[in-house]
Amino acid sequence: MRLFLLVLTSVLCGTSVALDNGLMRTPPMGWLAWERFRCDIDCYNDPKNCISETLFTDMADRLAEDGWRELGYVYVNIDDCWSSMERDQQGRLQADPKRFPMGIRNLSQYMHARGLKLGIYGDMGSHTCGGYPGTPLDKIELDAQTFADWEVDMFKFDGCYSNASEQEKGYPLMSKALNATGRPIAYSCSWPAYQGGLPPKVNYTQLGKICNLWRNYGDIQDSWGSVLSIVDWFFDNQDVLAPAAGPGRWNDPDMLIVGDFGLSLDQSQTQMSLWAIMAAPLFMSNDLRTISADARRILQNKVLIGINQDPLGIQGRRIVKEKYGIEVFWRPLQNNVSALVFFSRRSDMPYRYHTSLKKLNYATGNYKLFDAFTSRTTLVKDATDFVVSVNPSGVVTFLVSAPATINRRQFYNGGKLHGPSFEDAEENSLPPVFL
Ligand code: GLA
Repeated sequence: MRLFLLVLTSVLCGTSVALDNGLMRTPPMGWLAWERFRCDIDCYNDPKNCISETLFTDMADRLAEDGWRELGYVYVNIDDCWSSMERDQQGRLQADPKRFPMGIRNLSQYMHARGLKLGIYGDMGSHTCGGYPGTPLDKIELDAQTFADWEVDMFKFDGCYSNASEQEKGYPLMSKALNATGRPIAYSCSWPAYQGGLPPKVNYTQLGKICNLWRNYGDIQDSWGSVLSIVDWFFDNQDVLAPAAGPGRWNDPDMLIVGDFGLSLDQSQTQMSLWAIMAAPLFMSNDLRTISADARRILQNKVLIGINQDPLGIQGRRIVKEKYGIEVFWRPLQNNVSALVFFSRRSDMPYRYHTSLKKLNYATGNYKLFDAFTSRTTLVKDATDFVVSVNPSGVVTFLVSAPATINRRQFYNGGKLHGPSFEDAEENSLPPVFL
């Protein structure tokens, strides 16, 4: 019997969580080079913007000095085009010596000295998408060890120039290889994005066991159309995607482009709000050296970050899709708090949407609505009709709680939501139709 139990235990352990690295219990936050800086390797003509160690140390300085790190934005992630075109004499990947003269290990140490983490990029095919050396099956262990030797904290494994059967072997193998190094390295898999993002080709149960996050869909670009197509795909497929997410395993709708060129202020608030609802990784891809005060305010909004970082890690859903272009999204949070986002895809004028919490499936009771952008508070009953005025391509974002539960200053504190134990000094109870 004891032998049987022993065997059973080891079988169960062996087949349980392959990626048992304890990382990313809430969605990762940080900065990622790709969308904004792409494969600019022209350091001669464009020294401030080319993919080089200067770009990453510059961003690290901004994260550490401009209040980002304290809010949880700690990853500084290299994407494609960092490496030399050749492996070294031992067959290892190496950074481009001109653009990364101090090497990746030193860059990691630069991050660690500032309370930050370094992420790096590879590709499981013959080449990266940008044409740099890939990590085919026979190089997986070597490259995982190299990243661990460099003290890297996160690894994104892209899928260009690989086929489905290679991916089926390579993604789990890299997971094992990273674990085997003994260094906790968070693992981002692009696998589902290369297989259409949906079952039966994509097995989300397996992904949850081998990866900390995964790209499900196409690349974000610096435009509202791109954000909208991502939002639509993720919420159209929420029944498949939402159950896949949870502490340690996240769907990744790709980077935040707030602070770049393509989004209006309203659209920026929409991206941040919906990424919070989706429990999405919050990797900004922007220029933190020149970012506007408006964009910074949105990205540093503690209520939105608090929603995103809720410890339950439940991915939110679209609960209303009106024919006339208003949509409502909902995410349950700890302590009986929830988040509601009212989004308008209209293009005429601010739309006055009439609703009540009861219509949005809330239980009988008294509630407080706290507006994440204006900090205004309203007390309502479930059946109280209220109106939200939603700008074209904008949102109204509420925290919904019991009347004495939440205030702005204490909702979010260093990544932790607080319990219902405090007074809201700033509360001013407005009539329900103030909005
Ligand atoms: C793919 C990925 C992007 C980026 C580029 C780099 O397109 O999806 O996120 O990493 O490759 O070449």
